[in-house]
Amino acid sequence: MVLIELVNVKKRVGNEEILKGIDLKVHKGEFLAVVGASGSGKSSLLYIMGLLDFPTEGRVFFKGQQVSSMDPQVVSKIRNESVGFVFQFHYLLPEFNLLENVMIPMLKKGIPKRQAEERARELLKSLGLDGKEKRKIYQVSGGEMQRTAIARALANNPEVILADEPTGNLDSKNTQMVMQILEDINRSGTTVVMVTHELNLAKRADRIVQMKDGLLVL
Ligand SMILES: Nc1ncnc2c1ncn2[C@@H]1O[C@H](COP(=O)(O)OP(=O)(O)OP(=O)(O)O)[C@@H](O)[C@H]1O
Ligand SMILES: [Mg+2]
Repeated sequence: MVLIELVNVKKRVGNEEILKGIDLKVHKGEFLAVVGASGSGKSSLLYIMGLLDFPTEGRVFFKGQQVSSMDPQVVSKIRNESVGFVFQFHYLLPEFNLLENVMIPMLKKGIPKRQAEERARELLKSLGLDGKEKRKIYQVSGGEMQRTAIARALANNPEVILADEPTGNLDSKNTQMVMQILEDINRSGTTVVMVTHELNLAKRADRIVQMKDGLLVL
């Protein structure tokens, strides 16, 4: 089954075309790695796959349904409930603690506070952050921030995790830990798309695609 499909997707920003016609199918359950040089369009592609941004040309399908023909409220719902995004720069909210950061997507979905808190605690625990729930974002390490961002992405039990350089700022120990977590998530049935610069990490995926100057070359 195809979960996300891009057909001739182009993205123009000002005078620049940053995506130049991308065709890509993401299959349910797969672990896909996206590699490519800095500036080649990896993040831009991921934003479109995650319905955070929209192409200027071409079509995007989520589970066979064309996104541009959906009600914007349905698009928001898919984005919040079916897609978990781990950003290149984590975008956790510094004024909130780890627990609250993980609870936010669930509260947005309408899950009662107690239930959201219970799931957030479980998620943080499963990511090795037991006992640090009440710390603010700036009171934990980079690896711990990234694991919190993964917990937040998993909050609503999404169908797909889109992770943009999730290990980009981590040392090798934390890189292995985050990679292992993504592999476990994938093994439990969640589709994973991961952008990475590191070929040895990409090789652990089921499939690798490479971007070059706004196009897929592999
Ligand atoms: N909102 C924007 N306005 C103008 N240019 C943009 C915008 N977003 C991205 N770009 C440009 O589009 C190109 C692709 O950017 P993108 O962030 O997708 O690259 P990337 O492959 O993720 O790079 P990196 O590996 O450095 O994260 C770059 O040249 C970037 O400067
Ligand atoms: Mg990027």
